[in-house]
Amino acid sequence: VSLRFNPNVSAKTHPYISTGLKKNKFGLEEKEIIEVVKHCDRLRGIRMKGLSIHIGSQILELSALEMSFKKIAELCLKLNGILELKKQKPIQLVDLGGGIGIPYRPSEKAIAIEQYTRTVQKIFGSWMGPPITLGFEPGRVLVGNAGILLTELLYKKSRGKKKFWIVDAGMNDLMRPSLYGSFHEIASIVKGSKTEKNIDIVGPVCESSDFLGLSREIREPHSDFPFLAVMSAGAYGMSMASQYNSRNRPAEVLVSGDQWHLIRRRDELEDHWEQEIIPWDLEQEG
Ligand SMILES: Cc1ncc(COP(=O)(O)O)c(C=O)c1O
Repeated sequence: VSLRFNPNVSAKTHPYISTGLKKNKFGLEEKEIIEVVKHCDRLRGIRMKGLSIHIGSQILELSALEMSFKKIAELCLKLNGILELKKQKPIQLVDLGGGIGIPYRPSEKAIAIEQYTRTVQKIFGSWMGPPITLGFEPGRVLVGNAGILLTELLYKKSRGKKKFWIVDAGMNDLMRPSLYGSFHEIASIVKGSKTEKNIDIVGPVCESSDFLGLSREIREPHSDFPFLAVMSAGAYGMSMASQYNSRNRPAEVLVSGDQWHLIRRRDELEDHWEQEIIPWDLEQEG
């Protein structure tokens, strides 16, 4: 087995995606892991093979990751001492999790992969313990900025100074803005001539939290092609999408050079009840 260590390090990210603090539900504290390892020779069929951490997602500060790497390295050496006394093999795998943030706004500075690898090297480059394999679980940084959500501008509506652009994508398709208050850049694909200010780009779901962007300044789309691109939707987009409000989840299209492929079909109405089960006696009652 591998055990997930909660190093009590703040990832300085949104609290909902911070997972490495004592107050978060994830992992085991150092003393709990030591306790397990002290008993591992009595756990038949179980061998202590690895340790892992994942302190959160969308991390933009290397110092938080560095601190957690230091802590897992120290714990690994401590555990090896206990395992040696118990004539057990040392830890073989140290999994450093994911968490590398991406720029959602052009002005945002994310961690460069080279900086990340230098930090890993700083902690593990001169590793003195028995050989280990390092594990990595990057998610968002690989795919976040490789995906966009396309949506059609259906109509515009004003209330006093407030302006709304109602689009056909909603919080069920991209949940991040309503769940975390996250910012996603939004741009017209074929730009018209006029720029509008202070626009809320909202979806068709019956919640006031159903927005993709608030108070935006945006060039309106050309009337022949009324589509907007919601950027950085490649991670935590479709994976968090739902059929809430009986809405069909969108299709997914993979674009490679000048080729495109449908890689997931759009939901159909039947998909909404496909997994539902009618108990036999209710069926009898008609
Ligand atoms: C255990 C674990 N590893 C890796 C990841 C991927 O994280 P990210 O997309 O921030 O790289 C997550 C995300 O929730 C996770 O829970």
